[in-house]
Amino acid sequence: MDLFDKLEGRPGPLGQFTSDGYGYYTFPKLEGPLGPEMKFNGKDVVVWSINDYLGVGNHPRVRQVDKEAAEKYGLSAPMGARLMTGNSDEHEALERELADFVHKPEALLLNFGYQGIMSVIHALVDRNDFLIYDELSHACIVDGKQLAMAEKSVFKHNDIESLEKQLKRASSKLKPNSSILVVTEGVFGMTGDLGKLEEIIALKEKYPFRLLVDDAHGFGTLGHDGSGAGTQLGCHEGIDIYFGTFAKAVALIGAFVATEPRVIEFLKANARSQIFAKSLPLPIVVSARERLKLIRENPQWREKLWENTNKLRSGLLNLGYNVLPSESPVTPVLTSGSTELCKTIMRVMREEHGVFVSGVAYPVVPKGMVLIRLIPMASHTDEHIEKTLNAFEAIKPIALEKLEEKISA
Ligand SMILES: Cc1ncc(COP(=O)(O)O)c(C=O)c1O
Repeated sequence: MDLFDKLEGRPGPLGQFTSDGYGYYTFPKLEGPLGPEMKFNGKDVVVWSINDYLGVGNHPRVRQVDKEAAEKYGLSAPMGARLMTGNSDEHEALERELADFVHKPEALLLNFGYQGIMSVIHALVDRNDFLIYDELSHACIVDGKQLAMAEKSVFKHNDIESLEKQLKRASSKLKPNSSILVVTEGVFGMTGDLGKLEEIIALKEKYPFRLLVDDAHGFGTLGHDGSGAGTQLGCHEGIDIYFGTFAKAVALIGAFVATEPRVIEFLKANARSQIFAKSLPLPIVVSARERLKLIRENPQWREKLWENTNKLRSGLLNLGYNVLPSESPVTPVLTSGSTELCKTIMRVMREEHGVFVSGVAYPVVPKGMVLIRLIPMASHTDEHIEKTLNAFEAIKPIALEKLEEKISA
């Protein structure tokens, strides 16, 4: 059979939405300056679907630095991979600042979080090793696992007994040259719950393993200084390799891992997605430095983010919505599990109430779960929250009755 013909018959789990909802449910275009108010299909909407948690993306100082750096360096330099010709003083300075920000000895920049963490996992473990990861891990961890040569096993989401079972099994099979890597997330980005980092770290007393934490949503938003989920939970030191991305709180592109110097040195020479790919353009790096500095200097942004999160969440709870036990700004609203209902909610919210929300279904979350996921930002105002809660109140007859039907069924 012709390969291209075959593809037509298997659109994939998200394919149904891309074919009939292109430009609306998938690939929508939010236009105008980045922020809590943008334009969708020409209409003003309050936006709850972008991860610019601290509102830095369109900050005047950031816009100024972006402009100046682009003018000074252009968008091409440096050419080549870091290892070859793509290094610069700015890249190295940013790495020092990132390490300092997350209280780890050294950091390594990654061009993209997704490929970066895949390649870090791939590089760290070999065929003698064991890789154990949370079942709800982000796709980049799952794909990293596919690349890794190690023996793999999965533990039930945030289930310490299940993890311990896997650790016991792996430990019993350890050869002198075998090691164990456990991978989990600081914040599970769809449901908003935190990884059980303290409990996982406590297992180090009993089993020999290293812990890699993907803290994409926690970096910048959690902990008194934004250094993430480990700081928030008081166990940051027990994280052996910390991963953060710029794609959320820094509102940029790029990512990093932070850990001991000997591991950074190893990754510099072995993380293939970085060795065989062009390094981040200088304006991105210069801008990331400025954004990090602003985040450091403006802790009140984090306070405002949390204030907004709490207002939104308590408002939704008061209206009778199930927002799951989220412990981060990520605010999921559980729907009945029907993608049709979820699409209706998205459409009514956008068209009748001027509130832009997004739905999340399998394979982003487990099969059967359908969420409306709201991302509060420090830049949202009380008016935005009120307008959104009013909209959620108005859609209660469609959104909640169906859910109640399902719960009582
Ligand atoms: C938990 C998690 N890990 C990794 C990534 C990938 O990061 P990036 O967008 O920098 O590729 C994301 C999404 O951005 C994420 O949500």
